[in-house]
Amino acid sequence: MKVDIDTACKLLKKGDVVAIPTETVYGLAASLKMEEAIAKIFTLKNRPPKNPLIVHVANLDQIEPYILEKPNGFDLLAKSFWPGPLTIVLPIKTDLIPDIVRSGLKTCAFRIPDHPSTLEIIENVGPLVMPSANLSGRPSSTNCKHIEKDFGNNFPVFDGGTCRKGLESTIMIYTSNGWEIIRQGALTKEDFEPILGYLPKIAISNSKKPLCPGQLFRHYAPKAKLILDSNVDPQKIGVIVGFSDREYPKNCQVFALGPKNDPETVAKNLYFTFRTLDDENITSAWVDTDFPDLGLWKTIRERLEKAKCL
Ligand code: TXA
Ligand code: MG
Repeated sequence: MKVDIDTACKLLKKGDVVAIPTETVYGLAASLKMEEAIAKIFTLKNRPPKNPLIVHVANLDQIEPYILEKPNGFDLLAKSFWPGPLTIVLPIKTDLIPDIVRSGLKTCAFRIPDHPSTLEIIENVGPLVMPSANLSGRPSSTNCKHIEKDFGNNFPVFDGGTCRKGLESTIMIYTSNGWEIIRQGALTKEDFEPILGYLPKIAISNSKKPLCPGQLFRHYAPKAKLILDSNVDPQKIGVIVGFSDREYPKNCQVFALGPKNDPETVAKNLYFTFRTLDDENITSAWVDTDFPDLGLWKTIRERLEKAKCL
C-alpha cells in the first residue's frame, strides 16, 4: 500500500514499520526510539537476531550523541561520501543504542543515505534503523513491487522509484591496519584510495572473526540455482543470465543484466533479474561470469557467489 511522506512519518512515529527507498536498495524502516517496532523488523524479515542493523541519519549532528570517538580519517570519509552508499561502523556509548539494534556489539553501523525523500523522513522522525526490505536470504528490493511481493499488498511503502545503485552500501570499520571494507557494496575499494591515500583491504568475515555478522548468512538468492562455472555448457541449462551486447546460443532463454562494459547498469539490474527468474519459475540459470575482477565488478561477483550457495 503506497503511502505519502506525511503518512510514512506518522506511522514511523507511532511505532509502525514502513518500507522506504534509498539510493542503494529499499529499506524496512523503524524509529530508533521504538524498540517494539525494531523487534517487529526481525520477525517480518525472519532475520537472525545475531545480524545487527544500520542506523540511518540525515546529518552528522544526529550521529554525534552516540559515538565514543571518531577514528582517524572519519571526517574525511564522511565529507567525501555522505550522503551516499557508505556505512561506517563506530564505537558507541552502548547505553544509548538498544542491544537489539547492534546484536549486543559495542559498535554501531551508521549511514546517511542519498535520497531526498528519505532524508526528509529522517529529519522529521529522527534516526531510523533500516535493513534491506526483503525476506532474509532473498534478493533485496529495488522497487515497490518487490516489497509487495515479500510483505503483501497492505504493507506501507513510500514509492521513491527504482533505486539508482541497486546494490547495498559498502561497510567500513577502522582497525589497527587502517580502514577496512567488511562488506563490499556500491562503493569500490578504488573509490577510497584518493581520499584515504591507500587502498583499503577487503576483510572477509568468518565464524571466528565475524567482522560483519550479516556476511555469515545466506544472502541475495533467487530460488533458481545459479551456475557460475564457465566450463558448464549453457545449452545444457537452457537459461542464461548475461549481457545485452553478447551473443549466446539461440536455443537459450537470455535474461540480460545490461551491457558488458557497464557495471553500473549491471549492478542496478542484478536483484531485479534475480527476482524476475523467480517470477518466471526458472529453476536453474547459467551465469556469464566473463567480466573483469575490479571495481564494481568485484561486488557484482561477490553477490553472485553468495547468491549461488544453496
Ligand atoms: O545499502 C544498505 O546498506 C541498505 C540500505 C537500506 O541502507 N541496508 C542494508 O542493511 O543493507 P542490511 O541489514 O541488509 O545489512 C546490514 C549489514 C549486515 O551485514 C550487518 O551484519 C552489518 O550491516 N552490520 C550492522 N551493524 C554492524 C556492526 N555494528 N558491526 C559490523 N557489521 C554491522
Ligand atoms: Mg540485507
